[in-house]
Amino acid sequence: MNLKLFLLTAAVLVAASCATSDYVRPPPRKAIHFPWDAKASPDPTQVHISLAGPKHMRITWVTTDKHSPSTVEYGTSSNNYTSKAEGETTSYTYLLYSSGKIHHTVIGPLEDNTIYFYRCGGQGPQFQLKTPPSQFPITFAVAGDLGQTEWTKSTLDHIDQCKYDVHLLPGDLSYADYMQKKWDTFGELVQPLASARPWMVTQGNHEKENIPLLKDSFVAYNSRWKMPYEESNSVSNLYYSFDVAGVHTVMLGSYTDYDQSSDQYRWLKADLSKVDRERTPWILVLFHVPWYNTNEAHQGEGDEMMSAMEPLLYAAGVDVVFAGHVHAYERSKRVFNGKSDPCGAVHITIGDGGNREGLAHWYKKPHPDWSVFREASFGHGELNIVNSSHAFWSWHRNDDDEPVKSDQVWITSLSGSGCLAKKDYELRKMLLEP
Ligand SMILES: *[C@@H]1O[C@H](CO)[C@@H](O)[C@H](O)[C@H]1NC(C)=O
Ligand SMILES: *[C@@H]1O[C@H](CO)[C@@H](O)[C@H](O)[C@H]1NC(C)=O
Repeated sequence: MNLKLFLLTAAVLVAASCATSDYVRPPPRKAIHFPWDAKASPDPTQVHISLAGPKHMRITWVTTDKHSPSTVEYGTSSNNYTSKAEGETTSYTYLLYSSGKIHHTVIGPLEDNTIYFYRCGGQGPQFQLKTPPSQFPITFAVAGDLGQTEWTKSTLDHIDQCKYDVHLLPGDLSYADYMQKKWDTFGELVQPLASARPWMVTQGNHEKENIPLLKDSFVAYNSRWKMPYEESNSVSNLYYSFDVAGVHTVMLGSYTDYDQSSDQYRWLKADLSKVDRERTPWILVLFHVPWYNTNEAHQGEGDEMMSAMEPLLYAAGVDVVFAGHVHAYERSKRVFNGKSDPCGAVHITIGDGGNREGLAHWYKKPHPDWSVFREASFGHGELNIVNSSHAFWSWHRNDDDEPVKSDQVWITSLSGSGCLAKKDYELRKMLLEP
């Protein structure tokens, strides 16, 4: 064994000793090579779908042909399209790069829990999607910081094997990092999954891609991954919310203003104050930079956003918060204000989708009592919300190419816990009054 490898192995073992298992991780894997020769085809590419208000779905795809129509034909039997919708298009330039034509077409009203067959732009292959159920149970797949390496592929394969309804992605999608063609290859990589189930995403630092005086932040992200912000009364694609089955999910932006005078803060306050826990007993929140993190990586980066926004989430009785950014997995107890609190949210860091930067191995010591499970491995999570009070969370490590369930826990919703009634009435009133 050479010295470098020995030191690395020793480091991994030391890091593992303060995690909850002595699992020895496989090494990083290389970036996927795409034989990219932008073939000028009128056929749709990079197809992905997202929820767009009650009973509606947004279909997004890219064509190199600038004249291709933004039509989606769809129906519940194969090759028999009984409905048709027209959409809008956008495109962008980035230094020497010009994007293809990016189509966004909203279809619906759609039946719940139903398979639809669809075709984009009047030609090319037929795709198939399943709409989410309108009632429990519902399953969310969760994985952040994906990138496009052989590990990403492995994570996506595992997600594909699980029966999920909606994918939640807490930021860092393509790791294009200014290389715009990598947004196109990422779109192709995720298409088999993202064309079949809604992918609901929020942005991370790798989506920013700003160049001072030349390019604003989030140009590619906002053009390609349009989310239902208008449908949720937000003015920005960087924060929005949606309801599915009995779950209200809020997507926040870690890289846009969040202080009390910001649009995002005002929107969040208005959004949370409208939640009806009878109709949506569960509240989930996603953003990129974790607030509860015992990994050495990105320590303290979420503190400012946490001090601005955590009181709002607490007052609203948010059940689970998912973050990415740290390339490892960690689950907390219910927490608030840096401590265990039975009426706070469970925080889960799941930035371990498989990107090229590799894993974040080093954890802070001692181990705070609120951190229940932490491990630096690639993997994905599944949140199966069984009914209005119970959800089963599991984290599946990519053990070579097998998904191995490594952490699991039943989570009960705050809506049935008495916390909402017990919570300081004045706090709720102050934070949530219109
Ligand atoms: C197409 O679907 C419609 C409505 O469901 C049905 O009436 C019709 O018979 C179908 N056509 C074919 C060729 O299957
Ligand atoms: C919800 O699911 C849990 C776990 O399966 C079960 O114990 C509980 O009785 C269910 N509650 C209701 C109201 O159905």
